[in-house]
Amino acid sequence: MTKRLSRREFLTTIEAIGLTAALDGFNWSRAADEAAETIRPKKVDALEVAPSITIAHCCDPQLGFGEANTPEEAYAADLARLLKEVELLNELKPDLVLYAGDMTNRWQEVAKDWPEILKSIKAPLLVAPGNHDIPDPVKGSVVKVFTDVFGKEYDSIVLNGWKIIAINSQYVRPTEEKTLYDAQVEWFRRELEDAKTSGLRSIVASHVPPFVKTLDEKDEYFNFPSTLRQSFLDYLVANDATFYLAGHTHTTLERDYRGVPILNGETTSRNFDRRDFGFRLLKIDEKLNFTWDFVEVQKNVAAAKS
Ligand SMILES: [Fe+2]
Repeated sequence: MTKRLSRREFLTTIEAIGLTAALDGFNWSRAADEAAETIRPKKVDALEVAPSITIAHCCDPQLGFGEANTPEEAYAADLARLLKEVELLNELKPDLVLYAGDMTNRWQEVAKDWPEILKSIKAPLLVAPGNHDIPDPVKGSVVKVFTDVFGKEYDSIVLNGWKIIAINSQYVRPTEEKTLYDAQVEWFRRELEDAKTSGLRSIVASHVPPFVKTLDEKDEYFNFPSTLRQSFLDYLVANDATFYLAGHTHTTLERDYRGVPILNGETTSRNFDRRDFGFRLLKIDEKLNFTWDFVEVQKNVAAAKS
């Protein structure tokens, strides 16, 4: 029988991807007990059996953000790396290509090259919009520019017993677009709840990660507001989410929250940690053993010189 969320759980979800402070009194110990019954992912050097899903985790192609002498040179270099990345993606044939946002540096230029690039990506694709695609505060007119190219501002896909849910994390910032905001909250709650009751393992993706290094870090450009981080993450754990894939940091990061790995990979535009350009291949088997290996697109020559 389908388990419906309690009113408080539902409100907590709203809090989690909304604007106001986290609710008091949610029964986290019960949620933790429920979650304890769930197998949690374990990173390994190599899978023992064939992966049950392989996801190419691609971050911030952000055309026009790379280091160069002019914006035009930056755009051209970023585009060249992105096209090489697509070649590699098509050779590797993952079950899913996930782009964790910032498809371009200037949202006004999103239709310049992406429509053609999208046609060339052979695997199923999910895109979580970034803050350069739909800047703060979210405006319906800008959402339309994005959806005219990518179809949806949030979406999910079911593959091999997994449900991957890509959300628009721009709604964690204040917006006057209440109808759009409410629509995502309701959709996300239903997607995650249905995944659990259907026995699907869920993976959540967004551009902005809930936190960069620690749950209690200060609010900044790179994380969710502290008022909703924990309620959001506890909600995911209570609903058996297994992984969280993000972008935005331009720094490669691996951390976890109550057994849920939160992963940020390399970009093809600019890596603040000077790592080489590329993406990550996440492979997960039935026991939730996983590998998350780097796939190089191009050496970071500027970093080597500095
Ligand atoms: Fe970015």
